[in-house]
Amino acid sequence: MEGSVRHTITVEPGGEEFQCREDQHLLEALKSVGRRLIPSGCHGGGCGVCRIRIIEGEAEFKVMSRRHVTEEDRREGIALACRTYPLGELRVEKAPRPPAWAPRTPSRNQNQSESGNQQSGANR
Ligand code: FES
Repeated sequence: MEGSVRHTITVEPGGEEFQCREDQHLLEALKSVGRRLIPSGCHGGGCGVCRIRIIEGEAEFKVMSRRHVTEEDRREGIALACRTYPLGELRVEKAPRPPAWAPRTPSRNQNQSESGNQQSGANR
């Protein structure tokens, strides 16, 4: 039963450890033991809050949105913890959000702004 193999995941800085099965993503394993070493959100790859950088080790990844993890990010070892399944021991750290990252906000009508303070002046 390969899916039941457990691996030790180390979260830097600090070196705190937890166990994760190969058939679990990292956040699922953390949730099952009630720990919050990595920011947790939707658990479905949609919000991007769980970005990590894999410092060491091998993992398998489910599809990740380019909005949250670019090609360049991938080359640097950045991934979403909720899309990461360990294939062995891993050492990871939290990764900063991309500079252009903005939370999803409901915008029904782009011509109207509730606060009305997005643009000012420039009346020509
Ligand atoms: S928790 Fe939302 S993308 Fe991972």
